Amino acid sequence: MKKDVEFGIKEQLITKEKIQKRLKELGEQITEDFKNENEPLIVVGLLRGSIVFMADLIREIRLPLEIDFIEASSYGEGTQTSREVKILKDLRSTISGKNVLVVEDIIDSGFTLKKILQLLGSRNPKKVSLCTLLDKPERREVEIDVQYIGFEIPNEFVVGYGLDFNEIYRNLEYVGIAEPSVFE
Ligand code: IMP
Ligand code: MG
Repeated sequence: MKKDVEFGIKEQLITKEKIQKRLKELGEQITEDFKNENEPLIVVGLLRGSIVFMADLIREIRLPLEIDFIEASSYGEGTQTSREVKILKDLRSTISGKNVLVVEDIIDSGFTLKKILQLLGSRNPKKVSLCTLLDKPERREVEIDVQYIGFEIPNEFVVGYGLDFNEIYRNLEYVGIAEPSVFE
């Protein structure tokens, strides 16, 4: 293995410093919004892209909380209606009557989240809120109500800080853009 983690990255779109600053703001906002709740907040990360963001975010939330994970996989690149989302790993927690905060790396078309929000909503939680590190609003195909957004970004494929290309780059400390040759 001769390559460095930054191999093929042409640009830093969101620096480590910017991410750190935004994490504090999001953590304060979430703390404020849930501080009067009696039950611990259940923070649900969508595997695997959200784990870096989630690990940093939960340490900025000054409240008792639990963590849990869901893994979904999207199938078929065809038309909007044929898009299918399969749950590969479900929650361990019972969320009935609880406040749930779903943490995602990036919202693109919105299909993955739509499906997960429907699933969680069917289990009688008190409320399901959504926090995403990145949002690509131009790409949205289904409407989704997002309470906490780290950064809105243009329609470019990004990697790092949890996001991958072919499972690589998740451990970059910033969000970057790879050179076209990487995708060939
Ligand atoms: P959606 O169902 O189209 O919203 O898909 C969202 C998922 O696609 C994210 O959780 C990512 O795993 C992946 N994704 C979308 N855009 C990017 C990107 O720019 N870089 C890396 N992964 C992405
Ligand atoms: Mg993902």
